[in-house]
Amino acid sequence: MTGPEHLVVVGQGYVGLPLAMRAVAVGMRVTGIDLDAQRIAGLAAGTSHVEDITDDELAAALATGRYLPTTDPADVAGFDVAVISVPTPLADGVPDLGAVEAASAMLASHMRPGVCVVLESTTYPGTTTELVAPILEEASGLVAGVDFDLGYSPERIDPGNPTHGLVETPKVVSGVTPASLDRVQGFYDRIVDETVPVADTGTAELTKLLENTFRHVNIALVNELAVFANELGIDVWAAVDAAATKPFGFMPFRPGPGVGGHCLPIDPSYLSWKVKRSTGRDFRFVELANEVNEQMPRYVVDRALARLERDGVPAAGATVALLGMSYKRNTGDARETPSIPIAEGLAGAGVRVLACDPHVDPASLPATVEPATCTPDVLASADLVVLLVDHDAFDAAEIVRHARAVLDTRRWLPEAPSVEAL
Ligand SMILES: NC(=O)c1ccc[n+]([C@@H]2O[C@H](COP(=O)([O-])OP(=O)(O)OC[C@H]3O[C@@H](n4cnc5c(N)ncnc54)[C@H](O)[C@@H]3O)[C@@H](O)[C@H]2O)c1
Repeated sequence: MTGPEHLVVVGQGYVGLPLAMRAVAVGMRVTGIDLDAQRIAGLAAGTSHVEDITDDELAAALATGRYLPTTDPADVAGFDVAVISVPTPLADGVPDLGAVEAASAMLASHMRPGVCVVLESTTYPGTTTELVAPILEEASGLVAGVDFDLGYSPERIDPGNPTHGLVETPKVVSGVTPASLDRVQGFYDRIVDETVPVADTGTAELTKLLENTFRHVNIALVNELAVFANELGIDVWAAVDAAATKPFGFMPFRPGPGVGGHCLPIDPSYLSWKVKRSTGRDFRFVELANEVNEQMPRYVVDRALARLERDGVPAAGATVALLGMSYKRNTGDARETPSIPIAEGLAGAGVRVLACDPHVDPASLPATVEPATCTPDVLASADLVVLLVDHDAFDAAEIVRHARAVLDTRRWLPEAPSVEAL
C-alpha cells in the first residue's frame, strides 16, 4: 500500500460523518459518499449538519486534503476499507434494507482482492452474511473471508452525549472469519480507545439490538408504571430516584412522553421481525414495549386536556405551548419524535398549539402547529405549557415564573403549585 489507507464511508449522517472525521484525524484518506447532493455540497462548503461535528472540525478535516465528501461512486475506486453507515428504517413494520443493498452493490463494483468491508448500520442478525456478502461477491467475483475481509461493527454513537463519543465508547467488532475479525479489529483499534471482539457477525448484530431493546423495554416499564402511579397518587419519579440508590441490580430509567429517534422505535422491531421469521414465534417483550411506548403521546394529550378541564378552560380555542419538538434533549433531530403526535392530538381537540424549539427547523413541523419562541410573553399567553424536551436552552425558572399551568413530562422543572409532573 502506498500513501495513507483509503477509507470509504458510505452515508455521511449521524454515524458516518463522525467516523469520517475521526479517520481523517488519525491519518487516513477518507471518501465520504452520500446520495444526498445537498448534504454533500454543504460538507464540501464546510457546513456540518450533524451537531456532534462542528464546522471547525469539518474545516480542519477538509484542510488536510484527505477528506473528500462526494456523491460520485467513481471516487470510491481503490479503497482499502469501506464502512457502510446508511439508514435501516422500517416500511410497514418490516425491515427496509434497500439502502444497505444499494451501498453494497455500489462498493461491489470497486472491490479488489484484499479490501475490507464493514457494515455498521443497525440490522437483524444474519444481514452481513446473508444479504451483504452475496451482493459483494456476485458483482466482484470475489469470496468473502477468502479474497476480501468482511465484518460487522455496531455503532453506539449517542448524539449530543458530552462524555461518551465515538472514541471513548468501546466498540464491538466481528468478522466472517478469524482473519476478517483481526482486520476489522485492527482498523477500529486506530479509531477508538477500546475494541470488543465477538466470535461472529451474528453475535455483533444481536448485541446492538439487545442494547436498544433493553432500553426500549425498560423505558416502557417506567412509562406504564408512571400511568398507574399517577392514578395511585404516588410519585413515580421519587420512587425511581430512591431505587437508583441501590448500588447493584437496578438501573434507573425515567418516564417520558414517548420514544423517538432512529433507534428505539425501530431497532427492537428488527429483532422481533427476525425472531418471527426464523422461529414463527412472537417476541412478546418487544411487542408489549412497542404498545406501551406508542401509547405515551396519547396519554400526554389526555393529561393535558384533563388539566385544561380542571382549570376550567375549554379545549376548543385553548392555547397550549409545547416546549421541545425533537426526540431528545439538545438536538434538532425530530425523527419519530413523540412531540408531533402530541401536537396533532391536541390540535385534533381544537387546541391552538404553539411549538417552541430552538433546535428544530420550523419548516419540518406539521401545519397544525404554530412555531413560536419560548419568551415570557408566549409562556404567559398559553393556557397550558407542556414541557416535552428538557433542552439546556430552556430557562426552567423563567418557565415556572411566567406559565400559568405546566405539565412537565421530564420532571425537569422546579416544584411549584402550577407544575404537575407526568
Ligand atoms: N443516529 C444514531 O444515533 C445511531 C446510533 C447507532 C446506530 N445508528 C444506525 O446507523 C445507521 C445510520 O444512521 P444515521 O443516524 O447515521 O442515519 P442518517 O440518516 O443520519 O445518515 C444516513 C445517510 O446515508 C445516506 N444514504 C442513504 N442511502 C445511501 C446510499 N445507498 N449510498 C450512500 N448514502 C446513502 C443518507 O442520504 C444519509 O445522509 C442506521 O442503521 C442507524 O440505525 C444510528
